[in-house]
Amino acid sequence: MWNFFNDKSKNEKTSISLDMNNIPKHIGIIMDGNGRWAKERNLPRSMGHKAGVETIRDIVKECDKIGVKYLTLYAFSTENWKRPKDEVNALMKLLVQYLRKEIEELHSNNVIVNSIGDTSKLPEICQQELKDAYEKTKNNTGLTLNLALNYGGRDEIIRAVKLLYNDIKDGKVNEDDIDENMISNYLYTSHMPDPDLIIRPSGEKRLSNFLIWQCAYAEFWYSDIKWPDFNKDYLHKAIYDYQNRDRRFGGVK
Ligand code: FPP
Repeated sequence: MWNFFNDKSKNEKTSISLDMNNIPKHIGIIMDGNGRWAKERNLPRSMGHKAGVETIRDIVKECDKIGVKYLTLYAFSTENWKRPKDEVNALMKLLVQYLRKEIEELHSNNVIVNSIGDTSKLPEICQQELKDAYEKTKNNTGLTLNLALNYGGRDEIIRAVKLLYNDIKDGKVNEDDIDENMISNYLYTSHMPDPDLIIRPSGEKRLSNFLIWQCAYAEFWYSDIKWPDFNKDYLHKAIYDYQNRDRRFGGVK
């Protein structure tokens, strides 16, 4: 699939060709830059998040269309509770609006709407919408959309250790059984492949507690573009760059 790519953050035009047989199975996105996008326009931060939801719509559609099997979006971290109350409330409201507005289309596109993270701490209404969305879509067979909500990689590992400890105590697991696969199976992402590609727009180059166990061999892609300006062309460019990386997983070729 040939495309022209116009990188607005660098004023650079290139042509790219995607190998449709090498689409990453699992993409993770740290949707960063909403606040700065709003500030540049003298808008409240919540408007940046609102614009970010439009990007979510387009990117979910495109991932589904090109055959990505898992898309994990970092929507609210365990650290994001430190933000002003108004902003937290606005994000929760956007989540409910997004699910209500999009669920029929997501369902008709065969998407499974899943969440990862400690969602029990989210407002009741968010928990209900997430539960309804999952129940409606859980038997679908297309893209799995993981919304990472009240998610933190360290928190996820602590939870996994506690679950494992209980299973050892109950005699369900022996010390010798513990290996990488087993640990992976105690995480929220159990039975999903590790992410192949992590995308972070907005110029920051850090993982910020996102899928820290699962990212052991993920490829990273950064851009200065802010999340509300990210679009399917950037997604294609990230995948194209990923396809041109040499993944050796610690071995040699
Ligand atoms: C980071 O940008 C973005 C977030 C913490 C929230 C992302 C959430 C959404 C896009 C919308 C809500 C989610 C769903 C699933 C509907 P930032 O605020 O840290 O930006 P900044 O670094 O420029 O301040």
